[in-house]
Amino acid sequence: MVRVDLKGCSSFVKAADYKEYVGKALAAYDVLDKENGLGNDFLGWKHLPSQTPESLIKDCEAIRDEWKAKGVNLVVVIGIGGSYLGARCAIEALSHNFAKQLSGAKEYPEVVFAGNNLSEEYLAELMDLVAQRNVATVVISKSGTTTEPAVAFRILKEYIEKNYDDSANRIVAITDASKGALKTLSTQEGYKTFVVPDNVGGRYSVLTPVGILPIVLAGFDIRTMLAGAAEMEKALAVRSETNPAIEYAAMRNLLYSKLGKKIEILVSYNPKFQYLGEWWKQLYGESEGKDKKGIFPASVNFTTDLHSMGQFIQDGDRVMFETVVNIEKSNRSVVIGSDPQNLDQLNYLAGQHVEHCNAMAQLGTKLAHIDGGVPQVEVSIEEINEYNLGGLFYFFEFACGVSGYLLGVNPFNQPGVEAYKKNMFALLERPGYEEQTKAIRERL
Ligand code: PA5
Repeated sequence: MVRVDLKGCSSFVKAADYKEYVGKALAAYDVLDKENGLGNDFLGWKHLPSQTPESLIKDCEAIRDEWKAKGVNLVVVIGIGGSYLGARCAIEALSHNFAKQLSGAKEYPEVVFAGNNLSEEYLAELMDLVAQRNVATVVISKSGTTTEPAVAFRILKEYIEKNYDDSANRIVAITDASKGALKTLSTQEGYKTFVVPDNVGGRYSVLTPVGILPIVLAGFDIRTMLAGAAEMEKALAVRSETNPAIEYAAMRNLLYSKLGKKIEILVSYNPKFQYLGEWWKQLYGESEGKDKKGIFPASVNFTTDLHSMGQFIQDGDRVMFETVVNIEKSNRSVVIGSDPQNLDQLNYLAGQHVEHCNAMAQLGTKLAHIDGGVPQVEVSIEEINEYNLGGLFYFFEFACGVSGYLLGVNPFNQPGVEAYKKNMFALLERPGYEEQTKAIRERL
């Protein structure tokens, strides 16, 4: 299960200040619990782990089995932001690092992602791959109108319709229950659809069909992931000073408000968690970065980034703290051998597991960064698996709700995301944007 350790912050904060912020976090917790705060129409995520029906999982498995029977070996999951990052995070965390390169028959199709950028080169190269494979697609958009996934879907749809007689059975849409272009199209074309619940925002949607279907298609155990999240749901339902979400929310807001730590860096020592960082950045950035407030969320992968960002974190402007996702146990074992010549002078490590070196690098970095003025929060799980990942998802979501309310913002809206879209539509001369097109041209 997820545990929070704040010892790496103790030399930076006064006990009385921490107590004050725990009090604030408890008050914020009450708002989330009683559901009487800003954005309270977007709290459907709170009980997803304990209330996800078995029938939903079975429906997802039916699609997996149907596509398997057709020989589908590539699934393109189309979506952006909250309609993409959770699934990618889970699939990357749980997959073999070299799944693509390993030979041998694959039990499940390869899952790749599209619609998360507008790069022509990306789409052209995706289509090179699609042309070599037996393909199906899952298009995910709550609004059903987001440009990036809509463009990618138009291209995939055209390809699938041209190349397969059973095209409608190779497309699944995950969207609003009743409105939006994607819903209309799905009804018209007879696509199987899943619903993004009205009361769950994109960045909180990993445990809805948005995450569940791609995770099932990739062959991972969603029941265990939901069970891990459900245990976390139960643990965080206890209102207490030692509730890990209270601890995390209190400390990060204290570091931000009293010590001027405006940047939080999510650190992992396992490359499989690179996309945990991406998912977490959206969750916290979009939830808290508003009303001219908020901690800027960044992420690094150590030890890799100790050789790039390490200098700044150790020695640059003292504006950051770290939240380390500590993985206590490696799932695999590699022992360092002895070399008679010892030219690399590594014989002192002979017989040690590589993960021991990783753990010592982690500990050494922790001490160095604390000495350098960087407080460190530790969020621990035992090992990477479905159960713990489910727990981590729920922990970070719940703590984000508490943290946002403590900061005094609505953690469940994202008004700032619209600004670039309006300019882009004006520049692309979308019908209805004539006035804005004229105004924007005058500025350029
Ligand atoms: O968290 C959010 O709401 C956003 O990141 C959305 O998920 C993202 O913009 C995609 O939106 P949609 O699912 O409507 O295409």
